[in-house]
Amino acid sequence: MSARKWVTHNESGRKRVVVTKELPGERWIQRLTGADCAVEVCMSPDILSTKEIAAAIGSRCDGAIGQLTETWGRDLFEALKAAGAKAYSNYAVGYNNVDVGAATELGIPVGNTPGVLTETTAQLAVALTFAAARRIAEADVFMRSGRFHGWLPTIFLGELLWRKTLGIVGAGRIGSAYARMMVEGHKMNPIYYDIQRNVALEQYVADYGEFLKQHGEQPVTCSRAGTIEEVFAAADVLSLHPPLDPTTHHLANAQRLALMKSNAILINTSRGPVVDEAALVNHLRTHPDFRVGLDVFEDEPAMKPGLAELPNAVIVPHIASATSWTRQGMATLAATNVAALLLGYPAWQSADISPFLGDDPSTPLRAGPPRAAPSIVNARELGLPTFTR
Ligand code: DGY
Repeated sequence: MSARKWVTHNESGRKRVVVTKELPGERWIQRLTGADCAVEVCMSPDILSTKEIAAAIGSRCDGAIGQLTETWGRDLFEALKAAGAKAYSNYAVGYNNVDVGAATELGIPVGNTPGVLTETTAQLAVALTFAAARRIAEADVFMRSGRFHGWLPTIFLGELLWRKTLGIVGAGRIGSAYARMMVEGHKMNPIYYDIQRNVALEQYVADYGEFLKQHGEQPVTCSRAGTIEEVFAAADVLSLHPPLDPTTHHLANAQRLALMKSNAILINTSRGPVVDEAALVNHLRTHPDFRVGLDVFEDEPAMKPGLAELPNAVIVPHIASATSWTRQGMATLAATNVAALLLGYPAWQSADISPFLGDDPSTPLRAGPPRAAPSIVNARELGLPTFTR
């Protein structure tokens, strides 16, 4: 074990689970201690190195919960395998930091935490959109610096987004939730690019358009673009929601940024490397009316040189999922993934993970959670049994 401070819950537990960061709430600890686990939690806010994590795994470890800031590569899965582990869960919905292929080859199931981040992450994407459109961060700095000497017709002119075109790249759960918020609240017309057609989103917007017509208002429309370029060119606001993989690395590059309207807004709450951040800095410098809202960064936690000085960038420290409800729910799901696998339970099949949480992740579930692991990304590849009611 490294020199960092570790805390153990339920020392007498017969199984040993290593958790590389303190997680919010209590329920996640109960899920693991209820499965007879001693839970060893690293209390340091510093990012642990692979060497430190391997040392924490040691010679006997049944399961682990890791963070998106750590690289869970073949070396750590080999360490887990050698220690007898049967389960790993990422404390995140995204798992680009995990070598799932290596874990699968070594027979280790990998969990993630979908479903509890959707509305929370979409909400932050909306917040960044309006912060960028209405120049909130710039105006806040202006106000605090004592430069406000009275109302003027020309200060901090921003963009009205009402009924404009909303570009979405990646219309999965979070992208669709964001689209619905912008359509319902601001009557924006979505154009999306996704390798899969999102019939539910299209139908939702069509139904909402009908509703508007019945109220004597102009309907909204939703279209699916044939190319990513089409979305970049059409959008007044473009929000990025794809998973990070080799096909989406630098998806927003200099060529595509050049297609965008000079006063467009780009939002990224997915993963930093989806945007070529150096190209973005150049674009922001040469297009002062172009604005960006970023929750994630290519070299996180660092930013590319120049970004922090640009007034047309709103930047926040990867907080899209940072509400108590969501972070406690993520903890519950990650712990339940590990506990359920150690108890020999099957993998849950449905995208609806609410039976594992109830309304409030900080209070006990009256009926108890289903006897299943809520989300195992390599369940099929490993041939894990699936949950049937
Ligand atoms: C995730 O879960 O992938 C998020 O980025 C954490 O906020």
